Amino acid sequence: MAVATIDKKLPKDFLWGFATAAFQIEGSMAADGRGPSIWDGFAKLPGKTQDGKGGEVATDSYNRWREDVDLLASYGVKSYRFSISWSRIIPLGGRDDPINPAGIAWYSRFIDELLSRGITPFVTLYHWDLPQSLQDRYGGWLNKDEIVQDYTRYAKVCFEAFGDRVKHWLTMNEPWCVAILGYGRGVFAPGRSSDRERSPEGDSSTEPWIVGHSVILAHAHAVKLYREEFKPTQKGLVGITLNGDWAMPYDDSPENMDAAQHALDFAIGWYADPIYLGHYPPYMREVLGARMPDFTPEEWALVKGSSDFYGMNTYTTNLCRAGGDDEFQGNVDYTFTRPDGTQLGTQAHCAWLQDYPDGFRSLLNYLYKRYKLPIYVTENGFAVKGENDMPIEQAIIDTDRVNYFTGTTTALLGAIHEDGVDVRSYFPWSFLDNFEWADGYLTRFGVTYVDYETQKRYPKASAKFLLKVRVFVPNFT
Ligand code: NOJ
Repeated sequence: MAVATIDKKLPKDFLWGFATAAFQIEGSMAADGRGPSIWDGFAKLPGKTQDGKGGEVATDSYNRWREDVDLLASYGVKSYRFSISWSRIIPLGGRDDPINPAGIAWYSRFIDELLSRGITPFVTLYHWDLPQSLQDRYGGWLNKDEIVQDYTRYAKVCFEAFGDRVKHWLTMNEPWCVAILGYGRGVFAPGRSSDRERSPEGDSSTEPWIVGHSVILAHAHAVKLYREEFKPTQKGLVGITLNGDWAMPYDDSPENMDAAQHALDFAIGWYADPIYLGHYPPYMREVLGARMPDFTPEEWALVKGSSDFYGMNTYTTNLCRAGGDDEFQGNVDYTFTRPDGTQLGTQAHCAWLQDYPDGFRSLLNYLYKRYKLPIYVTENGFAVKGENDMPIEQAIIDTDRVNYFTGTTTALLGAIHEDGVDVRSYFPWSFLDNFEWADGYLTRFGVTYVDYETQKRYPKASAKFLLKVRVFVPNFT
């Protein structure tokens, strides 16, 4: 593919900003009536996070929000993607449980502050922090009928409270992770798995597929509600954001070419095919048989077309080989090592991530061709190897991250200008170093270094680099 040059402009109204999520940054878990979420307790169980730490303080953004908005503004952003904590809005989570006015007031103030600085709020309703009481009462996402009603009511409360000012909604963040990491591998809350050491009771041969199914339905119900009751007056957009990395055949053998498509079916098609095309990928049915739940005709009618855009979170590319035995990856074997022994790209701190910008561009093309909707890139980023062990002065010269963003922003402009892909946003992950789930605080994804001792923020070279790139957005000068 031809390499685009960075002097090409981004389209008018392109949303340029950074992304975060409530549990990863807010801290203040007991403040103003917040109820517990499934991540509160899970993170504290022995061995669940690498450093044994949880979300008690995180980046203290619940208290430091004004300072954070100042910093965001200094990065020249047009938009900010953040999530609302369900347990701050409805501490017990359920449809008959009381609403917490203090939680609503906090997000309301925050949204007003963003808008007063000319920053468009881009809001995720669910970024993995399910109210604990819904898990306790009926098993959370395993109980489709209950969770769909509770989630829809939560979404309704948010549309009512914030929809006059929020015009970009994401129902769910990365449902693949909710299902596979939470109920398959058991490494994320609620930590269910067939591995008895991880979970005494999970069944990862069935539960992830049930959970994925419930998430799709809950999403679809919330979208229906928005479109019927709120969109006519609020005039916003609502969609879902899916994770998914580019899948490249290991070589050009027919079985490895198929393997790459099978990987995409399990990673992306699982959610995107129902939502955008109205069916599950046939290969998933072939592998999972009756374990893959089906929708009724009425549910299919609700699910198909239930996103106004394609929300894309992506980080890397996997070389795909047939013959793997990991069902969660469609029995496809992933590697970063090419047949000639070389690596695909620079290795990140986490094992699952290497820098390969051509894959970012290929994925944009694939998604646009297959699902035919505008794409909002809602996450993309890199964790520099060993960054947490470096002195701050060294960590903030994050050359590998600058290289990563040089590659992906160039690929982004190439996809827009040379390939004709309709991309409407770019939100690097993340605005700040933060709680990286099972990695605790040891893996840093921020363009801002956070000293967790002092909570002082230090812009990294990547933040300055991205500020330079964004000046090519025409409506900023
Ligand atoms: C995806 C998730 O949405 C986010 O919460 C996470 O921190 C990043 N990827 C990096 O792993």
